[in-house]
Formats: sequence, C-alpha cells, structure tokens
Amino acid sequence: MVEESKYKGHIPVLLDEVIENFDPKPNQNFVDCTLGGGGHSAAILKLTGPSGKVLGIDLDEQAIKAAELKVSSFAKATKDKKNEKLEVGRLIAVKGNFRDLKNIVHQNNFENISGILLDLGFSSMEMDDSEKGLSFRYDAPLDMRFGEEGITAEEVINNFKEKELEDIFRTYGEERFSGRIARIICEVRKEKPIRTTFELVEAIRKVIPGKFQYGRIHFATKVFQALRIFVNQELDNLKIVLPQAIDLLLPGGRLAVISFHSLEDRIVKEFFKRESRDCICPKEMPICQCDHKAKLKILNKKPIIPKEGEAKINPRSRSAKLRVAVKL
Ligand SMILES: C[S@@+](CC[C@H](N)C(=O)[O-])C[C@H]1O[C@@H](n2cnc3c(N)ncnc32)[C@H](O)[C@@H]1O
Repeated sequence: MVEESKYKGHIPVLLDEVIENFDPKPNQNFVDCTLGGGGHSAAILKLTGPSGKVLGIDLDEQAIKAAELKVSSFAKATKDKKNEKLEVGRLIAVKGNFRDLKNIVHQNNFENISGILLDLGFSSMEMDDSEKGLSFRYDAPLDMRFGEEGITAEEVINNFKEKELEDIFRTYGEERFSGRIARIICEVRKEKPIRTTFELVEAIRKVIPGKFQYGRIHFATKVFQALRIFVNQELDNLKIVLPQAIDLLLPGGRLAVISFHSLEDRIVKEFFKRESRDCICPKEMPICQCDHKAKLKILNKKPIIPKEGEAKINPRSRSAKLRVAVKL
C-alpha cells in the first residue's frame, strides 16, 4: 500500500487546459498514457461518470498505486457508497510502456476513445524517490529508469566509451561541456566505478568552470536530463506512440501532448504538422506522388503554456508546452 503522504506530491500540469481541450462528457473513454499520480485521470473521471473509463498506463508501479489511491479517495468523497466501487473500477491502470499503446488498448478491450493524453517525462514523486536517482539533490544509486527494464544510468556511466558519453550529453542535454565531462568520467571511473548521483555530481564539478558552478541552474542539470532521456529512450518512445495514438482515436477525438523540453516539443510539432497535411512531397515536386492524407487538424498553432499563476505555484510547470490536435 502506498502511503498517501509520500505520493500526493505531484501537481498536475496544465490541468485546466487539458480538460478544456478534451471537454470530457458523461460516458466517454480516455487513455492517459502517463498516469503518474493520476491527477489528469482523476479530473477526467469526475466528468465522465457514470460509466466513462480511463485506461491509464505507467511504467512505474508506485505511480499506478498512487493513481489508484487518488481515484479511490475521490470516489469515497462522492459519499455515494453504492457507486464507490464503480468509480474505482472506471480507472483501468496498466503497468506498461506507452510505446506498446495499441497492444495495451487491445488487450484491455478498450474502445471508443475520445481523447489520449501524454504528459511526458517524470513526476515529482519519481524525482523525490530515493531509489530512482533522478535528482542530483539526493544521494541515490544511479538508476534513472522509470520502470525496471533496460539499462541503468550506472551501466551507461561506467561502461560506455568516452565518445558515446559525449554524444549522449550533447544530443539529449545540449550540454556545452559534454567533451570534458565525458573525459573526466572516464578518468574517475578508472579509479573506482561511479555508482551514485553524488559521485557523478562530484565528477562533473571537477571540470565545470567556477563561474558556472553557482548559476541559477545547477551545473549537473543537463547531464542528468541527458542520461534520463537516454536510459528511458524517451524520444524514441514518443515517436513510436504518436502514430498509434491517432489510429486509436475516434474521429473527432483529441490527442494532447505536454512536453517539457525542446527535443520533445519538436517531435510533437513536426508530427502534428506532417499529419495535418494532405501532401508531404518535397516542395520541388510539381505533382503530388505521396498519396498522403491528413489525419489530424491542429488546434493550436502555438503551444499552450501555463498561466503565470500556475508557474508560480508549480515551478515544474514553467517549461511545459501543450499541443492538441483533433483526429479527422
Ligand atoms: C509527468 S508524469 C505524469 C503525471 C500525471 N499526468 C499526473 O498529473 O499525475 C509522467 C509519468 O509518465 C511515466 N512514463 C514516462 N515514460 C513512460 C512510458 N514510455 N510508458 C509509460 N509511462 C511512462 C512516468 O513514470 C511518470 O509517472
């Protein structure tokens, strides 16, 4: 059983905007590909009773438990004892990777989907989880995986070649000192493997010029971001799930994606652009030869960003961008 005190910490980002765009109606079904603490799912379930369902997916077992707890506490709050069970049963929580979206949806006989949400990255609960090693603020084993499968950050840091590490830091973190950081990691690990977040931070500190060590943004931020994205294959998962999501939606259904950095947002933006066009032939082609048909209509040319008030209450939301499209 998850203690509520530990897992209530995640404040859903752009919640009003997601609800406004989904406009959930009684008995509609939605998929939440990133269940997390269940913040978005609970809000959708409140509006889709008595029999609308949410299929919620997460790689993280603790997130699933936290979301179930959240929904059961709102079910209890309805004071309608007769319907409490039904309320809880309206969340189908599945441990899995959203890159397998179609399979998960079919295995659960989930149909008539009016909206699919992706709220990317990690939750505050995962950030504060002392076993995950996602934050440079806590000393923890260098794991960084949202679930239990795949390679850990410790394996990457201790086994990858210097050039490979440099590429990871540059590609996924846009870290300007990628080369020196990769070099020092290889030197330090010759003496002793780097096993914890603090050991990694100390290795990075050795090569970061003094004036960058006390900036507004912690000097290890980009390396941690890069490792997390790499270990969890975040960009590949996103590229793989987007086309599946469109196929699964009912016509008129909505796809909403909240991203937290430009690498993710670029993928969503390009995908929406491409799938909202009838022809994707190169400009030089006089006659269309691609036979591509638009599958989406983009709802907002510019991404929706949090209002000032939200960013103040929830600093995590500051970099959030929401893009929404309608299935044609
Ligand atoms: C930002 S949180 C979602 C928070 C949630 N919307 C809420 O308001 O409580 C992102 C969640 O997605 C999960 N996640 C990230 N990548 C995933 C993937 N490929 N498949 C399934 N879950 C994933 C993380 O474990 C995390 O719990």
